[in-house]
Amino acid sequence: MRAVRFARYGGPDVLEVVEVDAPHAQAGQIRVAVRAAGVNGLEWKVRAGLLQEVRPLVLPAGIGGDAAGIVDEVGDGVRDVRVGDAVFGSGQETYAEHAVLTSWAPVPPNASIVEAAGFATPFETALRVLAEAGVAAGHTVVINGASGGVGSAAVQFAVDRGATVIGVAGPHNQKYVASLGAVPTTYGPGLADRIRAVASGVDVAGSGVDVVCGVAGSGVGVGLGVAGSGVGLGVAGSGVGVGLGVAGSGVGVGLGIAGSGVDIAIDVAGSGVIAELIALTGDPARVVSIADFSAPEHGARVSTGFGRDKTPALREGARLVASGRLTLPVTAEFSLAQAGEAHAASATGHVRGRIVITVP
Ligand SMILES: NC(=O)c1ccc[n+]([C@@H]2O[C@H](COP(=O)([O-])OP(=O)(O)OC[C@H]3O[C@@H](n4cnc5c(N)ncnc54)[C@H](OP(=O)(O)O)[C@@H]3O)[C@@H](O)[C@H]2O)c1
Repeated sequence: MRAVRFARYGGPDVLEVVEVDAPHAQAGQIRVAVRAAGVNGLEWKVRAGLLQEVRPLVLPAGIGGDAAGIVDEVGDGVRDVRVGDAVFGSGQETYAEHAVLTSWAPVPPNASIVEAAGFATPFETALRVLAEAGVAAGHTVVINGASGGVGSAAVQFAVDRGATVIGVAGPHNQKYVASLGAVPTTYGPGLADRIRAVASGVDVAGSGVDVVCGVAGSGVGVGLGVAGSGVGLGVAGSGVGVGLGVAGSGVGVGLGIAGSGVDIAIDVAGSGVIAELIALTGDPARVVSIADFSAPEHGARVSTGFGRDKTPALREGARLVASGRLTLPVTAEFSLAQAGEAHAASATGHVRGRIVITVP
């Protein structure tokens, strides 16, 4: 079969398509004829050798962790799938014509097999980090890096649980993040102030009606100040929001007196904002990162998923897709021969949704 391999660590050009023996499913595993492989941010780092101290490889090595395809071998003890089923999941060396999966779920009927190739890592990571952070209904949750693979999934899982999500992404992705159900804001200088403004209260002035929206503590509060009185009061979850409107001048001020209004912050982007996120939540225990390994220096946690059974998360994600409450768009497709280009695109750190490698 054809598979992507690399014989030395290096740039995207070390990836090449070679002929190798196809792998076989061992007990508890399945093999698929790969239709597409999801490209994760971890993979270009592995290829570049950035993880060789923690995850040493015997080279030449294959690459890729996520895939979707048609089951063509079933290992001993596997009862939930048959040869010919369409599945997505997680395994090894998935940039190839055949790959062994160690966890899987059926491709939801309303998703294409190419879309499903991008599901596994974002589903497992997003559900794990939401659980570790304790996200629940009524929480206001900041997700830093809301437009990428993990971020897109995390926003939608959190919204589905009844959380209010503030999604941090680039200017070109604000509408996309809003379409996922989050209140979008941009990253860069002034991030914490923008999040506070979104979470604690904003002014809408000049109309004669001042509105204070407090998304604080466990609830959402709206205060209305009528122009004539010039004063509005709003109760915002566990805190109090106060709106002052000076009708004649058209000036309105919204003030949320409820801390920042942010309960939990999840850092997906690893963009060096852990201290700001802790300042927003008021407690390092309410900040979890998947990509900033300096987080523990601030008292916050890093979540890693090595060695976990991903099957429950894949099934939960597939159910949400099937119900129409979760989508994870594929925004770029590459061939096996273009795996280096796929890695270069992934390494920009500005992927909306998912990148996949398709296999004819
Ligand atoms: N620990 C774990 O278990 C685990 C699991 C999976 C992934 N990861 C890691 O988590 C990271 C994200 O993975 P991914 O697959 O979601 O990546 P991705 O698809 O490449 O998305 C990264 C997102 O980060 C956003 N971003 C870039 N610069 C930013 C900034 N300064 N502030 C806030 N957001 C910014 C980008 O948004 P714009 O395009 O809008 O700029 C992009 O949407 C990677 O480093 C990956 O290796 C860790």
